[in-house]
Amino acid sequence: MKVLIVGAGGREHALAWKIVQSPLVEHVYVAPGNAGTAQEDCVENIDIRSDDLTKLADFAQLKNIGLTIVGPEKPLVDGIVDLFLSRNLKIFGPTQAASQLEGSKEFSKAFLVRNQIPTAKYESFSSAEKAIQYIQENGTPIVIKANGLAAGKGVVIADNMLEAKEAINDMLERKRFGEASRKIVIEEFLEGEEASFIVMVDGKNILPMATSQDYKRAGDGDIGPNTGGMGACSPAAVITPELHQRIIDEIISPTVKKMADEGNPYSGFLYAGLMISKTGALNVVEFNCRFGDPEAQPVLFRMKSDLAAHCLAAINGQLHRESADWEARNSVGVVLASKGYPEKYKTGSQVTGISGDQKQTDNGLIFHAGTTLTDNVIRTSGGRVFCITALGNSQDEARLKAYELLKQVECDNLFCRKDIGLRKDKVRKSVTEV
Ligand code: AMP
Ligand code: GLY
Repeated sequence: MKVLIVGAGGREHALAWKIVQSPLVEHVYVAPGNAGTAQEDCVENIDIRSDDLTKLADFAQLKNIGLTIVGPEKPLVDGIVDLFLSRNLKIFGPTQAASQLEGSKEFSKAFLVRNQIPTAKYESFSSAEKAIQYIQENGTPIVIKANGLAAGKGVVIADNMLEAKEAINDMLERKRFGEASRKIVIEEFLEGEEASFIVMVDGKNILPMATSQDYKRAGDGDIGPNTGGMGACSPAAVITPELHQRIIDEIISPTVKKMADEGNPYSGFLYAGLMISKTGALNVVEFNCRFGDPEAQPVLFRMKSDLAAHCLAAINGQLHRESADWEARNSVGVVLASKGYPEKYKTGSQVTGISGDQKQTDNGLIFHAGTTLTDNVIRTSGGRVFCITALGNSQDEARLKAYELLKQVECDNLFCRKDIGLRKDKVRKSVTEV
């Protein structure tokens, strides 16, 4: 079978790297891919953008693609699954209607509240005046979110009224995110530890992926602006077996059931971003309609079972027959990003030190994200450039191995956080100690 992976990031490199190992898969195309996918055996980049849905569907038809997996949210929210299904092409992902769980915060918040699935108290607004009145009544800290997709930048945690007003005016008056911030959602600030709970869904049945945790802030000690994620580890130590079952019973199963009951059956990866309080209270912070990035890198690095078989079973509504098998060791992925990310950064810097045919070793693997390969030269082309991922007998061992491997990458325009894989409580402690 030929597989098409849509996207160009580290998650897509991990998906391609993993799925090409399946005995069911002969060749993988990545649209448009990066320097990492360009160098994998039996994997080929094709020059089609991930948001050019018609060209992607034409390509899938022409090449007789047996399975398409979509990495980023935009093509899903734009309806790539509906288009592929209308042409009888096999694709694993949610329809446009079901992707609203990520594409519209208003949709997902209303869905959660209507179905008594725990989430922060909220209201949505299109008037700045009413929004400001609401925060005056509710106080700070408070969280202000653009309703639509804003490339991970549409969330402001306001610590005081000034910041809150600024964020509201920025989104509603100055239309910072265009159509995505024509409406905003304002919600209660939740305290606790975050974890990513990602499952595969076939409309009805679920197959949980290994748990993971993302490091969202740009700076060590969880400070600085939010990013797409500066690193991740798997499993998430905060999710005990008991909590794992509660997450399925209280959040994942009701979500899948209610989406189907309400006429929007969900199929694809479903990512629940959770807040877990000290007392064990669970809340949904967000849903994503796709695998996480960088969570995919450490999670798929631990997957021992056949991803292609899981996806095909899901497409056929047979996920209950599948079981996923995981490497017992911990994994940690550390992102190397362009200096300046998530704000302004330059691209086009040359990367040396990693050979063209870099392969997995027992120490780990360098997943590429924002890279290009021209005439055998690797150059940076995005904000997040690599995710160096390693296994260890403990999270500490995995993190040390990842940072050791990271030293191979030579480029003068990259930075990373130094505390990826440190337990979050230790991260916070180190900040207060400094
Ligand atoms: P979102 O795009 O909704 O996932 O928000 C991005 C990040 O902002 C989350 O991963 C959290 O770190 C933070 N965040 C979002 N909503 C809340 C909330 N209600 N309370 C605390 N932190 C939040
Ligand atoms: N790492 C967070 C996300 O993929 O949305």
